[in-house]
Amino acid sequence: MKKILLICLLVCTGAWQIQASGEKAIRISTDQTDLVFKVGNNGRLYQSYLGSKLLNESDIDQLPAGKEAYITHGMEDYFEPAIHVVHNDGNPSLLLKYVSHTSANPQPDVTETTITLKDEVYPVVVKLYFDAFEKENIIKTHTEITHQEKKPVTLFKYASSLLHVNSDKYWLTEFSGDWAHEVNMSETPLNFGKKIVDTKLGSRADMFCSPFFILALDKQAQENQGDVLLGTLGWTGNFRFTFEVDQQNGLRIISGINPYASEYRLDPKEIFRTPEFIFTYSTEGKGQASRNFHDWARKYQLKDGMKDRMTLLNNWEATYFDFNEDKLVALFDEARHLGVDMFLLDDGWFANKYPRSSDHQGLGDWEETKDKLPNGIGKLVKEANARGVKFGLWIEPEMVNPKSELYEKHRDWVIRFPNREEYYFRNQLVLDLSNPEVQEYVFGIVDNLLTKYPGIAYFKWDCNSPITNIYSSYLKDKQSHLYVDHVRGLYNVLEKIAAKYPDIPMMLCSGGGGRTDYEALKYFTEFWPSDNTDPVERIFIQWGYSQFFPSKSMAAHVTSWGKQSVKFRVDVAMMCKLGFDIRVNEMKEADQQLCRNAIQNFNRLKPAILEGDLYRLVSPYEKQHSAVMYTSKNKDKAVLFAFDIHPRYSENLRPVRLQGLKPAARYKIEEINLHQGSQSRLNANGKVYSGDYLMKVGIPLFSSSHTVSHVIEITEQ
Ligand code: DGJ
Repeated sequence: MKKILLICLLVCTGAWQIQASGEKAIRISTDQTDLVFKVGNNGRLYQSYLGSKLLNESDIDQLPAGKEAYITHGMEDYFEPAIHVVHNDGNPSLLLKYVSHTSANPQPDVTETTITLKDEVYPVVVKLYFDAFEKENIIKTHTEITHQEKKPVTLFKYASSLLHVNSDKYWLTEFSGDWAHEVNMSETPLNFGKKIVDTKLGSRADMFCSPFFILALDKQAQENQGDVLLGTLGWTGNFRFTFEVDQQNGLRIISGINPYASEYRLDPKEIFRTPEFIFTYSTEGKGQASRNFHDWARKYQLKDGMKDRMTLLNNWEATYFDFNEDKLVALFDEARHLGVDMFLLDDGWFANKYPRSSDHQGLGDWEETKDKLPNGIGKLVKEANARGVKFGLWIEPEMVNPKSELYEKHRDWVIRFPNREEYYFRNQLVLDLSNPEVQEYVFGIVDNLLTKYPGIAYFKWDCNSPITNIYSSYLKDKQSHLYVDHVRGLYNVLEKIAAKYPDIPMMLCSGGGGRTDYEALKYFTEFWPSDNTDPVERIFIQWGYSQFFPSKSMAAHVTSWGKQSVKFRVDVAMMCKLGFDIRVNEMKEADQQLCRNAIQNFNRLKPAILEGDLYRLVSPYEKQHSAVMYTSKNKDKAVLFAFDIHPRYSENLRPVRLQGLKPAARYKIEEINLHQGSQSRLNANGKVYSGDYLMKVGIPLFSSSHTVSHVIEITEQ
């Protein structure tokens, strides 16, 4: 009796130690991290370890088996499962056993591991894929589910990843907000129970929260020390992260498509491939973790991640819908005078029956409005090019205004209920990309424009509405596939564009940062972080996104939002991919001169700002100041951005310690982006210091004035 009680106690508390079988452990390693799986003596797969890399191979044998790796619904686990399948006989159980694993090197420094699991009662196979990017310390993982049952099975849950983490304390940073108020970072402790971060918006899915998180172990996340796990899902639709702390204080993190209203009927032999969950485990805090992501993104994920970026002048805030050919040509002159690479024509250039004179109509009718542009886009491309300026164009191809010819002709292409009044977000509806005919139509928008006007050098691809009225006339009795198949349809379109036009740069925009994920960024060179370009707000917004995304991927424009000086606005925008969206001619001559000068500085300093290592020195969340610096890969050049935001009266101001320099090297400090004729007020300006001094003692950069900024070029002597 005593023995039975003991066994029950062990099982019920989860303390039952599964013996690892004679199988070799499956070790997924980067240069810094190990993720180890083991096969138990019951044939099931266990996650044995996740953390800092183990130095001795022999220590792997000592690891306890750990917790089941990809937990299934219907068996003995009491917490959230990774997968929930209902077989065609109505049985909801799944028990996965290890079958095999393989490992390959598709590229140098990248190891791809595949673990195959199978149910012995029902013919369901689950494959877990892991790509370890050794140098960048990134692991990318996804799952594939298939079956050979006679009829479809239904997937109720289908996670990309389940990770177990063990620590005394957990702190979660989430990134939430709203339109023009994106990625506010807030950190909360995780105690027993569940915390879910998810979205149900369908398209522009990140409007209220972003598909990435920071998990800190033991203590709150710090910039330069401590264990943190940064994770993100590459999925341009509904996502869900579940953090669940169990009764033993173990944490499981389940990441994937949000299964909300998305049961998926999987046909025999059909493959259900989940999106990729991408993470890094850093023992040196958030700063190093972000640099891991930036390096990996530039090298492997972001479209043209290793290529240059164009500066631009956009006309959205300069004109809104109110422009014509003459006005635009005048703006091309301003672009040339400013010295940017490209002019970007925004919303309002299309539709004739219902001209796009406001956001109430025209979306879907992608022909130039004759009244506004009698000579079409071709003439605009020609005029821009004649001034040495490239021409880019705004489109919003996934959407339709009910007041459009497209809607009149193809109501069946629209996500809407056939029997209910429509609900609109920004007066528009979403096209049904689960329908291949609609995919072809959306591809055709880009294809037709580029065929007719091969001079178009860039697209800004917008997406302003979430999915409302969720119903597809194409999917018929498979309505619960819509959220998933819509996103897959979008990828089909983007894939086709990438295949036919591999070199066209595109900006991912979604009414600001309503879409920012690494799967979309395979097809986009940059994204629009927010419609809020008030530079003070942007300091926070750029800080937030910089946790995961490199500066090269973030478009930052100087506009007339905010009351700060032009210099302050330029300095903030120059921390990312610099652009302008302002009436340049209406600025004072001294400010115009400053902008021209800043563009030249930016072009010269791109190797540090866009390709270098980011060090976040002073957080705007902690102080009334902020500072970041970018150091070129060989550490011979750095650019430092320092901002006084709204300092308190008589603050104690400390010197700012720099990072990422060579201690023994000597560096000259020079303030740049100054108005012509004005002198730097920084004491350090013009002086030479050792890297050691700059990193240990630092230099005074802050003042008690409001919204003052400095850009400092640091050059090895
Ligand atoms: C929302 C975008 O975020 C803006 O930059 C602008 O392109 C408008 N859409 C145009 O409608």
